[in-house]
Amino acid sequence: MAEERDGVSRRQFLKGVSASALGAAALARAGLPALRAEDGAGGTTGIERIPASGGKLDLTLNGKAVSLACEPRTTLLDLLRQRLGVTGAKDVCDRGACGACTVIVDGKPVVSCMLLAHDCSGKKVETIEGIGSPESPHALQREFARCDALQCGFCTPGMVMSLKALLDRERTPSVEAIKGAVSGNICRCGTYPRVFEAAQSAARSIGGGK
Ligand code: FES
Ligand code: FES
Repeated sequence: MAEERDGVSRRQFLKGVSASALGAAALARAGLPALRAEDGAGGTTGIERIPASGGKLDLTLNGKAVSLACEPRTTLLDLLRQRLGVTGAKDVCDRGACGACTVIVDGKPVVSCMLLAHDCSGKKVETIEGIGSPESPHALQREFARCDALQCGFCTPGMVMSLKALLDRERTPSVEAIKGAVSGNICRCGTYPRVFEAAQSAARSIGGGK
């Protein structure tokens, strides 16, 4: 048939052309530019593009400036543990459910497995390594040891960092505030009573907590 060539009829061809024209007209009415072939159907959106090979990242880690290239998909936890060798924050659930990876970013406790490293650009990151040492422990570290507030220890760095964020903003926290601060930190060994005791004792030694 003269009207049909290569399996496409004139009617089908005309229908296709008018659909494209109508689509462009609808986009124009909505004030949106029509997609051009060079835009690509799945064009990148977002306020900033970070190359897949890694964008530059600057932050402060435990008081020291850190500057390195980092892939956009890297979490803060992976950056700490795998790139920087800072392994105090623990990788337990890797989905924001246990609190073992808690660190402090600009004064707030965060689960580092759920935060992209690039979202910490220009910020201050504090980990358990930065708050004290065996020779000069933070009051929380000292009291956790004295009260024997840990068994396997996997939850402990996260517990301590959640409580440090609390004590940094509240010198005399109530027991309820202490319980609230670690409500996102799961201890499978069940050390909570001693964690609360250690936190109260540390608060008393720092600022007279109740
Ligand atoms: S490892 Fe991040 S919340 Fe569990
Ligand atoms: S001490 Fe083992 S999970 Fe808390």
